[in-house]
Amino acid sequence: MATPTLPFVPASSCQVLFSVEQIRERVIAIGKQISEDYKGESIVLVGVLKGAAIFLADLARAIEVDNTFDFVAVSSYGKGKTSSGAVKLIKDLDVPIEGKHVIVVEDILDTGLTLSYLRKLMLQHKPASLKIATCLDKPERRLVPIEADYVCFKIPNRFVIGYGMDYAEKYRNVADIRLFPEDKV
Ligand code: PRP
Repeated sequence: MATPTLPFVPASSCQVLFSVEQIRERVIAIGKQISEDYKGESIVLVGVLKGAAIFLADLARAIEVDNTFDFVAVSSYGKGKTSSGAVKLIKDLDVPIEGKHVIVVEDILDTGLTLSYLRKLMLQHKPASLKIATCLDKPERRLVPIEADYVCFKIPNRFVIGYGMDYAEKYRNVADIRLFPEDKV
């Protein structure tokens, strides 16, 4: 039997939520804030693959203090109502973070399950400090209590694509952030 294919929704037909310019402004502001908060220090940015890759690339360049970056990857636990909520590490850090100032970088903070798992994991490595930066925050969807220290935009519970965020792995390369039609999800 042939594998069913998803109907293709062109990104250009999806409503823009945040333009390239609005994203750039917020990333620069967050980068400036981080540069002030960590003046004279070095930071390790830990991006969560794959969604955070594009935000991290921009954020790292907007931060003026010394910074390096690394990536971790976690298994997708499925976002359905019956999700177990279990998160599993599938790619660990390449570089030790003990004694370092760490900022975990996410594209989106949704239920909070991923970041709460990662926060516990990172703390086991004994960093000097640990903070969270996220491009988007959907507070309505939170299942566990966790907040980010740096947030570009708070959004309502809508499905978004672009700027690293996908639907079935597509649209990560869309330069702005758009609303994906709920009836196509
Ligand atoms: C997204 C996002 C976060 C996570 C947030 O990842 O990048 O890692 O979901 O959701 P939560 O707060 O409900 O845990 P996804 O599993 O879609 O993988 P991706 O980054 O590869 O797109």
